[in-house]
Amino acid sequence: MNRSTEIFDTLQTTISQSAGAARQRHAETLTADRRSVLTARIEQALQAQNAVIVAHYYVDPELQDLADRTGGCVADSLEMARFGFEHSADTIVVAGVRFMGETAKILSPDKRVLLVESEANCSLDLGCPADRFNAFCDQHPERTVVVYANTSAAVKARADWVVTSSIALKLVRHLHQHGEKILWAPDKYLGDYVQRQTGADMILWDGACIVHEEFKAIALQSLKKQRPEAKVLVHPESPPGVIELADVVGSTSQLIGAAEQLDAPTFIVATEDGIFHKMQQRAPGKKFLAAPTAGAGATCESCAHCPWMKMNDLQRLANVLKTGANAVHIDADIRRRAEVSIRRMVEFGKSVASANVADSVQQI
Ligand code: 13P
Ligand code: SF4
Repeated sequence: MNRSTEIFDTLQTTISQSAGAARQRHAETLTADRRSVLTARIEQALQAQNAVIVAHYYVDPELQDLADRTGGCVADSLEMARFGFEHSADTIVVAGVRFMGETAKILSPDKRVLLVESEANCSLDLGCPADRFNAFCDQHPERTVVVYANTSAAVKARADWVVTSSIALKLVRHLHQHGEKILWAPDKYLGDYVQRQTGADMILWDGACIVHEEFKAIALQSLKKQRPEAKVLVHPESPPGVIELADVVGSTSQLIGAAEQLDAPTFIVATEDGIFHKMQQRAPGKKFLAAPTAGAGATCESCAHCPWMKMNDLQRLANVLKTGANAVHIDADIRRRAEVSIRRMVEFGKSVASANVADSVQQI
């Protein structure tokens, strides 16, 4: 076994163990009475502490609705970063995964940022440790370093740019037009998609999202045949064969926008299943089908559930507001350097219409 295979295997083991541990700690089912007691406590604590919930579309629908109802937001990772930064709250409670909490803290060092669950991670973040990533960058000093938001603060500190899926294409096209060669990390599928769309010179880190990686092109092809009236919406963390079958490729917000705006009665959706809640709210008359995560007779590991996103629940949210646990802390030097690359993303995002469905319609 050579050295890089060993490293890859070690990272895969870390990811599988973390995902397995997360699955063991998913929310218990609560009675309706218990849920309403917890909800009332949370609402009171949010007010008393001048706190807001910033939630991702993949978390429990009840948390999404609570965030909406109490003046917080439910959004994709770029909008989550922006919202927390622009809001006047003293405390931001992040219902999502670790990198989202870190991004909020990097942009708002004077605010208290609490994670609903501190063990909620992401396979892309776990699969790109800062020491290995720094060594990779050192081998390619001539390249502009672009990292996906799903990374640690230390990896962002090494980057020239941070991007989310909502602006990755636009940013890389912009850099390519300025003659820059790119080192991209960590999502190889998103990197490959961006590379094919823009023609940019890119070298890619070998990382993947364990949820999106499981969508299957052949099974999707046959579902499309059975449902000719349906449009296919795909998150670009999915494998290339799945992306090729898409009518729209985009971030979670862009996919929700497409479901709302496109004139089709049915959508096949290749992303984490928490998104169905917001899609159904925004496009109530339409039908949403999950893209297949396994071929005929096969089993799937994640079945479109992110094990870490599913750790976010009412009980944990109530606990962190009560105890102040899970506060995000970041080394001052790392924070300062990561802030530069994240702010670039936020500023670039403002200068382009990031949630434009027409721009995200697939061009291949
Ligand atoms: P979005 O930026 O599209 O919300 O993606 C975040 C994520 O983790 C997708 O798996
Ligand atoms: Fe990470 Fe994938 Fe979960 Fe998103 S869905 S947080 S990319 S593991």
